[in-house]
Amino acid sequence: MKDIRATSTAKILTVVGARPNFMKAAPILAAIRNRNGRLAPVRHPNDPQNSRIFLENVLIHTGQHYDEAMSDRFFADLDIPKPDVHLGVGSGSHASQTAEIMKRFEEVLLRERPDLLIVVGDVNSTLACALVAAKISYDDKGSRPLIAHVEAGLRSFDRAMPEEINRIITDHLADLLFVTEQSGLENLRAEGISDAKIYFVGNTMIDSLLTFKSKAEESVILDTLGLREYVSGDGQAGHTARYALLTLHRPSNVDQQATFLPILEGLQELSSSCPVIFPAHPRTQKKIGEFGFERFFTDRNGCGVEEQPRSTSGRGGIRLIDPLGYLDFLCLMSNAALVITDSGGIQEETTCLGVPCVTVRENTERPITVKVGTNILAGTTKEGIRQAAWQQLESQTAGAVPEAWDGKSAHRILDTICREIEKQKPLL
Ligand code: UD1
Repeated sequence: MKDIRATSTAKILTVVGARPNFMKAAPILAAIRNRNGRLAPVRHPNDPQNSRIFLENVLIHTGQHYDEAMSDRFFADLDIPKPDVHLGVGSGSHASQTAEIMKRFEEVLLRERPDLLIVVGDVNSTLACALVAAKISYDDKGSRPLIAHVEAGLRSFDRAMPEEINRIITDHLADLLFVTEQSGLENLRAEGISDAKIYFVGNTMIDSLLTFKSKAEESVILDTLGLREYVSGDGQAGHTARYALLTLHRPSNVDQQATFLPILEGLQELSSSCPVIFPAHPRTQKKIGEFGFERFFTDRNGCGVEEQPRSTSGRGGIRLIDPLGYLDFLCLMSNAALVITDSGGIQEETTCLGVPCVTVRENTERPITVKVGTNILAGTTKEGIRQAAWQQLESQTAGAVPEAWDGKSAHRILDTICREIEKQKPLL
């Protein structure tokens, strides 16, 4: 391989905080390691040929998500190194969580003084850290890090969603905006953000999916949940049962009894024809207990996944289980006949996998998944969900994979970042 020389070092600080951040940041962290691995030490600092920047990366975990199942498991599954700094913030109201992250992150930023900050997605950690970096001053000239936002430009046009507020503000603070789909470009332009800051790079979450898809197929989750049937004793590969996969965690769907109830009622007919596997977010589990909704589920949570019966593929019901790690969930998603969700990321993952998806929301900030992918919006009424589930269960359309969702997005991001850092920090 050609010898590439490092002639300068730049410090990057990458922030993660909540579950959907981990799969978006993992490919960028891997690409940094990969790039540094190809750099040789400086031998002729004045030789501009092949000059490259060595990227020193500092990984910060805000601690917005802290349960093993919501955080540590993802670090293991996605080969993410242990964070260099853990802010240990935990749960709280939006204001107190955001404020606590800001206070603790400011100290880290002043200590580390990175050249560039990477924030991903739309969670409170994303906004809090971008806001701190935009106002920080390393010196009396007002020097601050460049701010890169990965997954910029998505808009649901629903300001009742906390994520929409986080997306809009983070985009207006960022210096480099990395966009996943065409609508993102259009939204940012319509908001007056200069084209010079915007880069259409594809989707790093899809980088993770393509990297880990074959490893996920080795997961034993289908056997654990009794969703694989074997012809007795012949040792042949099992036949996968037809099942649906469900996730619900949006406060607007699960926090009020009056909204959560019709959603569960809308799924009852489907669950009488095939099992519906429901790995439930801690917020959702709490609400199920509070509202006394246990009657909707065939397996009460708390009876861990391992203790499920060996084969229940023949019977239906909504089966409530604890949240799963990345690989187990990817395996369940890839093999599902249908996915029903209110998550943003799962709409994109199912589109890439060609698995039909029903989104239990009135809107989506990811319209490409409806336009070319496998997603439909069902709304949140009982009848809307019932009809959408049947329509999608019978759907034969595999959809198409959106432009640049090709597993190379993190590399495009790093190339841009290095070019921009070189402009700010001329090489030796
Ligand atoms: C956050 C993101 C949301 C994302 C979701 C994925 C924001 C505004 N929301 O929502 O965009 O889709 O993560 O999960 O940033 N909890 C635990 N253990 C944990 C984390 C949370 O038990 O490890 C419980 C706590 O009761 C907490 C509640 O879940 O109060 C909500 O957590 P929070 O981080 O505030 O928001 P999410 O609903 O997870």
